[in-house]
Amino acid sequence: MFNEIFSCGKKLCARLILVISIPRPKAVQNLLNNLFLSFNVVENYTKISPTALMVANFRAKYTNMPYAQNIYQTARKFKGKSFLEFIAPFLGYLARFFPGSLERLSSLEGRYLATNEAIKKLGRDISIIEIASGLSARSLEWANHNFVYLETDLPEMIKIKEQVFDEVAESQGLKINPNHHFLPLDATDPSEWEKLGKKYFGKKSGKVAIIHEGLVAYLTREEQERLRDNIRNFLATYSPNGAWITTDFSTQKRKESLLVAFAKKLIRRNTQREFNHFESPQDVVDFLNAGGLEVKVLDNSSVFGKLTCVKKSNMDSSKVREGMVNYRAYYITLKK
Ligand SMILES: C[S@@+](CC[C@H](N)C(=O)[O-])C[C@H]1O[C@@H](n2cnc3c(N)ncnc32)[C@H](O)[C@@H]1O
Repeated sequence: MFNEIFSCGKKLCARLILVISIPRPKAVQNLLNNLFLSFNVVENYTKISPTALMVANFRAKYTNMPYAQNIYQTARKFKGKSFLEFIAPFLGYLARFFPGSLERLSSLEGRYLATNEAIKKLGRDISIIEIASGLSARSLEWANHNFVYLETDLPEMIKIKEQVFDEVAESQGLKINPNHHFLPLDATDPSEWEKLGKKYFGKKSGKVAIIHEGLVAYLTREEQERLRDNIRNFLATYSPNGAWITTDFSTQKRKESLLVAFAKKLIRRNTQREFNHFESPQDVVDFLNAGGLEVKVLDNSSVFGKLTCVKKSNMDSSKVREGMVNYRAYYITLKK
């Protein structure tokens, strides 16, 4: 009896997702777009912020990443429930019926770990500027370090992050880095970078790591160029030996389950943003070279053994390994 209900539910979900996701004649697609999936790309970025809560939800549920539970539970108090957060548990539930879908979530842990590994390449005497930090745990995990850590995001999001950080740090009895600061930053706005540089760095300031995860794909190419030029200008002015470190440029095209395609549609519609991935590794190199930068793509094989999600969520480890190519860290420096 249970098996029948289970199998019936499974078929129903598969059909629903099939109907929504398969290619269809243009007229039908237009109708569906108008009814359900249409959107215009908007100029401002605030609709991207709820994705941070969605990521926090997935990390709390499927990984044992540091402070993941505390962060998510605390954040819910400060942030009104968004559709993306509401839908996250359903997508997670359905993922078990679509082979390879659950394993896609391992990238949320993998990219965090790969970024940490890459930062270590700069040595110990560094400063960090984290862009679009959302509800990431890094500043909590590294709260006992003394380096300058500028944690930034859009104004509303960074306010929430500061509240979440304070509450989690207090409840966990963490010793706080006195050089850790929260500040609002639209990373595509050159004037905000200028202010940040003048206020916190003043003159050449040793090695600065500028990092982010889960931002670039939401930006148009013109916005990506502004982000690149802002970071290049910052490095040239304040930290010629520093680096821009991100996994956001990984470009490997993957076969997608219907569920993943559907989830991406929901995210696009709710953020009112298209995903703008780079076409190929060469496309990324050309993009960075055109901005006066050069890049090394770092091996991330050491990350696999540190992923907590594989065991916790009973993921297929061969699929997780396959997906690792999608979060290799790009180590980007000024062109010599
Ligand atoms: C998918 S979340 C990633 C959050 C975090 N990095 C993580 O991995 O958990 C995307 C983040 O980008 C931020 N964001 C969107 N547009 C931005 C912009 N122009 N400048 C800075 N942050 C932005 C959002 O507020 C959100 O926190």
